[in-house]
Amino acid sequence: METTQINIPTQFRIDNTIHQKKYLINGEMQEWTGNTTEVFSTISSTESYEPTLLGSIPDMGEPEALRALDAALLAYNKGQGVWPTMHVRDRIDCMEKFVQQMETKRDEIVKLLMWEIGKSLPDSQKEFDRTVEYIRDTIEEYKQLDRDAAKFQKFDGVYAHIKRGPLGVILCLGPYNYPLNETFALLIPAIIMGNTTIFKPAKYGVLLITPLLEAFQNSFPKGVVNILFGRGRAVAAPIMQTGKIDVLALIGNSKSANALQDQHPKSNRLRLVLGLEAKNPAIILPDADLDLTINECLAGTLSFNGQRCTALKVIYVHEYIKEEFLRRFAEKVDSLKFGNPWDNGAKLTPLPEPDKPAYVQELIDDAVQKGAKIWNKKGGQQTHNYIWPAVLHPVTKEMRVYKEEQFGPVIPVVSFSDIQEPLDDMAESNYGQQVSLFGKDVYALAPLIDTLVNLVCRVNLNSSCQRGPDVYPFTGRKDSAQSTLSVYDALRSFSVRTFVAFKDSDLNNETVEKLLDTKLSNFVSTDYIL
Ligand code: G3H
Repeated sequence: METTQINIPTQFRIDNTIHQKKYLINGEMQEWTGNTTEVFSTISSTESYEPTLLGSIPDMGEPEALRALDAALLAYNKGQGVWPTMHVRDRIDCMEKFVQQMETKRDEIVKLLMWEIGKSLPDSQKEFDRTVEYIRDTIEEYKQLDRDAAKFQKFDGVYAHIKRGPLGVILCLGPYNYPLNETFALLIPAIIMGNTTIFKPAKYGVLLITPLLEAFQNSFPKGVVNILFGRGRAVAAPIMQTGKIDVLALIGNSKSANALQDQHPKSNRLRLVLGLEAKNPAIILPDADLDLTINECLAGTLSFNGQRCTALKVIYVHEYIKEEFLRRFAEKVDSLKFGNPWDNGAKLTPLPEPDKPAYVQELIDDAVQKGAKIWNKKGGQQTHNYIWPAVLHPVTKEMRVYKEEQFGPVIPVVSFSDIQEPLDDMAESNYGQQVSLFGKDVYALAPLIDTLVNLVCRVNLNSSCQRGPDVYPFTGRKDSAQSTLSVYDALRSFSVRTFVAFKDSDLNNETVEKLLDTKLSNFVSTDYIL
């Protein structure tokens, strides 16, 4: 396996380390004087391999966490705060101000995405641009939501003016594989709906949030966005234990989600917006177009080295085409280019977790010991920060690689002769996010689609699994998700329907007309925002 290039283009070199000492609580940029944690990249800057020091972040604990909570509670002020009662138009202005400033930080954030999580240059640029687009689309969707609500309904002699209102204080925690996009896909809709927030960046991809602190500070009223650094256990747990959090919004693994929700003493108060593990299968039917299927399976299993919750994590291939699929797929896997994120055409890039190669090796060893074969020549070859994806077959249910969400470069392949086998496995699985179905015969596809839509929440026909486009619902069954995210759905997940009702009488009708004319209420309003 070729080693990574160390000739780093000038604009991507780490000339200065970032020692992040500032954090944002209650609208104030505060100076951290306590312990710090160094941030390393697994990418080497020198000829002989050594991780690159990128900087350091504050190692915060309970006192700061509780101060952030107090600031968010004060800004919400039991629903009377400036932010939750503000007119929609004004909240949108704040968000527009934020996104304009964010756009000026593109180069800085893209560079940090590459170093901190090893994401390729095109994918890092895409993550940034997709996030900016998500914010703009969210603003448009919020205007639409508000326009649709700018009316009164009447039923059984009772008028209703129904809108959506905030839920309260939201704790947002994002994952390291999309430290910007997925975190903001939680945070932005939560903020715009009038909630106040506490947000802690993911375990990798932390420094890339720091260029945005000032934008958060000067775009929103104090206490609306509070940003903490440190370990989840140290800062998120004490916040949950107070019972004052209204929504836990987390994209990550169910272990952390369960541990945190268990700490909250009032389970009925706590709402959950969760995107968790998945083990999305590809099912390849005997008549599948193999060229297309192989390309989609390659993208599905190995985009960002398989570190996506939507990645294809197990491939079921029909016995009839198994040999040809495995041979051609294995060749394609070995023809991919490995390199540093800025290297032209690099599809496989360093893994940000230093212990990931060893973990993937354990999965391979376990599978091989239980009878699987590695089908590609480079499968399992290791460098300091990578392990080449191994195509493993036959994979059985006893193997760890079948049971565990690998979240990395290793591809288990199971063959089947009866379609009921993958269907039964999916029904038994703890996960239920998406599936990819490859085939052409509509007589075979139709009943399968009708079953699969009840086992997962998105059936991708002759296409790899993915979250986007972000206007489509992103959710899952069983342990894979709680609530639905999308530009449209997230606004609803972070709010509740709330309304003003009144019996049809002269007094009420006159009063409401006056409320509308004087524009004294931000809620009772039929104004259109265009
Ligand atoms: O990690 C899970 C992400 O939501 C996947 O998003 O399908 O756009 O890569 P993606």
